[in-house]
Amino acid sequence: MNQNSVPLLEAAQRYLDINHAPFYMPAHKRGQGIDCEFMAIMGKNIFRLDLPELPDLEEPIAEAEALAADAYGSDRAWFLTNGSTCGVQAMLLATCQQGDKILIGRNCHKAAIAGLVLNGATPIYLPTDYLPEFDLDLGVSPETLESFLKKYPDAKAVMLVSPNYFGVCGELAKMVEIAHDFNVPLLVDAAHGAHLGFHPDLPISAIQAGADLVVQSTHKMAGSLTQSSILHLQGDRIAAEQVDRALQILRSSSPNLLLMISLDVARRQMAVNGKELLTETIRLAQKSRSQLDQIPNLRTFSQIEVPNLDETRLTVMVDRLGVTGFEADIYLHSQLNVMAEMPTLTQLVFSLSLGNTQTDIDRLVQAFQKLGKEKLITQLITNYELRITNYQLPITNYQSNLTPRQAYFAKCDRILLNNAIGCISAESLCPYPPGIPLVCIGEKITLDVVQMLQAILRSEGIINGASDETLKTILVVRQDVF
Ligand SMILES: Cc1ncc(COP(=O)(O)O)c(C=O)c1O
Repeated sequence: MNQNSVPLLEAAQRYLDINHAPFYMPAHKRGQGIDCEFMAIMGKNIFRLDLPELPDLEEPIAEAEALAADAYGSDRAWFLTNGSTCGVQAMLLATCQQGDKILIGRNCHKAAIAGLVLNGATPIYLPTDYLPEFDLDLGVSPETLESFLKKYPDAKAVMLVSPNYFGVCGELAKMVEIAHDFNVPLLVDAAHGAHLGFHPDLPISAIQAGADLVVQSTHKMAGSLTQSSILHLQGDRIAAEQVDRALQILRSSSPNLLLMISLDVARRQMAVNGKELLTETIRLAQKSRSQLDQIPNLRTFSQIEVPNLDETRLTVMVDRLGVTGFEADIYLHSQLNVMAEMPTLTQLVFSLSLGNTQTDIDRLVQAFQKLGKEKLITQLITNYELRITNYQLPITNYQSNLTPRQAYFAKCDRILLNNAIGCISAESLCPYPPGIPLVCIGEKITLDVVQMLQAILRSEGIINGASDETLKTILVVRQDVF
């Protein structure tokens, strides 16, 4: 196919000039009724193109999706305007239902746990490997997957996250082979992998590895607008109609055209110029790592051998500076205007992509040089003795006591978090980012989890999903339910 063409952008250009009397929605009518201050900031074209799904847009949308499938190497692609959250949930709804077992990496995003509330399936959580020295989640290993498939050969699907927040992609091709040997489809949450497959020095994409369904947040790593993602299908283990049916339930009936145009354009950019753009991103990432490695007490992942690591993701270990990643984040942000993607207790993770420049990297390196020398920083240290210095995902039991759906609909009580140890959680609590629940809805609350949640809150981290933001209390399933 001609990857230079952009059917949705071309349709948008035609629409800019059409002078409709607009009696369709949205109410601002192509900007005629929009707030003046908003218009002054945004310009007028964005409103002229904020259009509903008009009949003559159907064809360009279908063409743009076909071009995306071609560029990424899948058999079918769906544009999503509710992010990969929608795609993860569609993958789950299309493949499993109540009573089915699904093997799912315990490092899954909270969107997947919400998807399990929707489909009612029973998760069997796959433990992930962990490198303590670098506080690094290595994802699910092929050996783990194989042993769980032997134990649960009746599983309806496997869902893995690849790459994870640190850029660890794992041995996906091997995992696809293992899952397919057991005749089980492999679903991949590749929210962080929309740029993979376009540069030979990066790990292969989940589609190239042979996964059956793959969702990618194009907005995170490949230049489209926030909330736009693509869901891909390949092979015949999962029927396209099943995916269509799931999307009918999950998608908005008013998809945002601007987001879809941005997906079309981002696909062209990757297909046509991806290699060149990513060469520069990789160069910047390598350069920043070599400069950061020279700063005393800082470490990057250049010192470890992790197979299939996405080099564009930069993790800086700050633990040996005697600060948490949260404290370092506040310092870099407030004092030097350098903003990381994710702080953890021990690290700062920076997402480098086609939009970054040499100037960004210089500022990042200078900021760390300053942080490394900063005496003031010791004053930021609070509650040192209460800190937990690693973030190993807690797995006490692989099969949770109640399915996420059972726990969601069960009668609950609100109790003090300190009294909740041993109870079944009725909410998923996740440090955000990365959005991986420390306790999933339906899982037993353990002392480790409570301590880790409290340590993250004390260190200025954010816990998402809690109905009580202070985390003094938590919703638990009533004892008589299970
Ligand atoms: C691994 C993973 N999956 C899914 C999502 C959800 O993606 P989106 O923000 O595109 O809805 C995220 C978001 O951070 C994520 O990190």
